[in-house]
Amino acid sequence: MASNVKKLPAKSDELDTGIDKKDRGSVARDLIEVLADTYTLLFKSHVYHWNVVGPLFVPIHELTETHYKDLFAAADVIAERIRSLGHPAPLSFAGLLSKAVVEEEDESGLSAEEMVQSLANDHEKMVKRLRQAAIDADEVDDLVTADLLTERLAFHEKAIWMLRAIVALD
Ligand SMILES: [Fe+2]
Repeated sequence: MASNVKKLPAKSDELDTGIDKKDRGSVARDLIEVLADTYTLLFKSHVYHWNVVGPLFVPIHELTETHYKDLFAAADVIAERIRSLGHPAPLSFAGLLSKAVVEEEDESGLSAEEMVQSLANDHEKMVKRLRQAAIDADEVDDLVTADLLTERLAFHEKAIWMLRAIVALD
């Protein structure tokens, strides 16, 4: 290879996008937490999609399918943003899940209503974390991450409404 070809900067240290190195690090850490919650809720939505029974089977089965598909697509976007900030995407699944606020547990025996309530509670936990992460990204001028997280926030807030509407009595 010709020796005068300039090597592209590949490391976080060498990125010059106008966002401070330290700030890129803190935004990447926030994104890893959001990714952890996204994967946990993706799995949980899928588990309930499979296991729900009763008169609410169809609406819950269908809504959880919409949700796990969205969460799967979002995981890719979030991880690729981490890479664009010059940081590695997570390599260990167990290590990633340890950073989630959404808890994955054995919830066998839950009624359809309890499943919906549990999912809505998880989405609520996520929106609080997402909102703060979006504000933090905006404060360090990372507009792309702030925009991405705001989009995620809209998804989760809508999910809370739709889940609760399934089990609302009036
Ligand atoms: Fe399915």
